[in-house]
Amino acid sequence: MKEQVDAVIVAAGSGTRLGASVPKAFVPLCGSPLVSYSYSVFRTHPAIDNIVLVVPQQLIESSNEMFSDPRTMIVAGGKERWESAKNGIEASGADWVLIHDAARPFVSHKVIDSVLSLISNFDCGITATPEVDTIRTYTGNTAGETIDRSKLIRVGTPQLFKRDLLYQLIESAHTLSQIPTDEAMLFQAFGHTIGLAWGDPKNFKITTPEDFEIAEAIIAKNSMFLGR
Ligand code: CTP
Ligand code: MG
Repeated sequence: MKEQVDAVIVAAGSGTRLGASVPKAFVPLCGSPLVSYSYSVFRTHPAIDNIVLVVPQQLIESSNEMFSDPRTMIVAGGKERWESAKNGIEASGADWVLIHDAARPFVSHKVIDSVLSLISNFDCGITATPEVDTIRTYTGNTAGETIDRSKLIRVGTPQLFKRDLLYQLIESAHTLSQIPTDEAMLFQAFGHTIGLAWGDPKNFKITTPEDFEIAEAIIAKNSMFLGR
């Protein structure tokens, strides 16, 4: 039997760095809430069974109206991103979950296919893009050494996890001397290998008002979501 794959879209952050009057995932981007872009991409991917949308508690009711669909579940997020991810995977009964940041509206079916191809070889996988900038360390106002860029990647989402195992590792995280800050680090801390799939730089994360302007320009150029 085909293994079930659900998407968990984490959209419960407040968006402090964006500084809008509503939580970041619900800020209208060219007329539609930011989260609706990645939602549509996962909702139309043939390998994705259900979608769990993790939203701020105060937006549960409006999200249920906005994303009313038999294959979509809406759950409340937590204070930290990992707590939101945990609530999302608890709601899913799938064999595998793809955890995705609502703040990345330009995920594509190609990037989803790329991370899904890791299923046969890994329990956990991330998407990443090559680092393109020159990266240096620094102390105060002086530059330190340059880091070899060819060794560096920029980590993005979606990230793939065997759901039961992820849940089990989250429950055991308190036994580690240092608590990992994301789910892939958690797998690594318990000795699992993280599979690597190449993503797409277009699938960048909207963090600041400048990122938001870039996203608006991309949509205007591509006339995406015409007629919505
Ligand atoms: N997220 C979440 N629950 C949290 C924190 C973050 O679901 N408690 C989600 C965000 O909604 C976002 C993704 O995780 O889609 C990546 O987080 P980030 O870009 O940091 O978003 P925010 O935490 O909302 O922004 P900021 O850190 O500027 O407050
Ligand atoms: Mg944050």
